[in-house]
Amino acid sequence: MKKLFHIIATPRGSESRTLKVTNAFLETFKSTHNDWVIDELNLPNESLPTLTLKRVDGKYVLLSGKDLYGELREAWDEIVMHIERFMSADAYLISTPMWNFSIPYTLKQYIDIILQPKYLFRYTESGAEGLVKNKKMLIITSRGGDYTASMRSADFQEPYLRLVFGFVGITDITFVNAQPMDMGEALQQQRIKEAQQKAKEVATQF
Ligand SMILES: Cc1cc2nc3c(=O)[nH]c(=O)nc-3n(C[C@H](O)[C@H](O)[C@H](O)COP(=O)(O)O)c2cc1C
Repeated sequence: MKKLFHIIATPRGSESRTLKVTNAFLETFKSTHNDWVIDELNLPNESLPTLTLKRVDGKYVLLSGKDLYGELREAWDEIVMHIERFMSADAYLISTPMWNFSIPYTLKQYIDIILQPKYLFRYTESGAEGLVKNKKMLIITSRGGDYTASMRSADFQEPYLRLVFGFVGITDITFVNAQPMDMGEALQQQRIKEAQQKAKEVATQF
């Protein structure tokens, strides 16, 4: 069995526009991918480890090329658990709204937790090397405004996510963005429908 890891960054459950698009993707994905299981991580419901001084110290130990030892190793247990769960997936799905032109803080916290040297990337003499190889990612977002035209340069969400996951080696990233969601009910419904259609098309080839 292959595993799709689904990371959710909206706390709005059944009210979520992002998840309405995601559900259309998942419906098609499940019917066309019988040999896949889905592991779901709902970030707003999760008690994520915080990056305490000890845990940050551990990161610098790894950056220096050494392994974790003693109490640093213990402090890292939860981080390693999250990293192993992330790395065990064959492909990724992220469902995230735009918050303040970027991503919700729970997703940023999760990224800060798992993006660790030795595990997701390493520095070599020729620069950084991503260690997450040959894995696809689909990112489904929804936004209150529309960032396809004059507001494009205010979209720090898509470029950031492409950069940060590209850094660890995930370069095959598809975005389905539902927008604008907060500029009228009719437009919202229309754009959700269009995004759902696109998400279903992506699902057949994913
Ligand atoms: C804390 C917060 C910050 C937001 N910031 C932005 C923003 O910067 N730009 C934008 O277009 N919409 C913003 N929105 C609106 C959401 O992106 C939009 O309503 C989205 O569809 C919500 O997705 P959801 O229903 O899946 O949670 C924000 C909403 C919240 C709650």
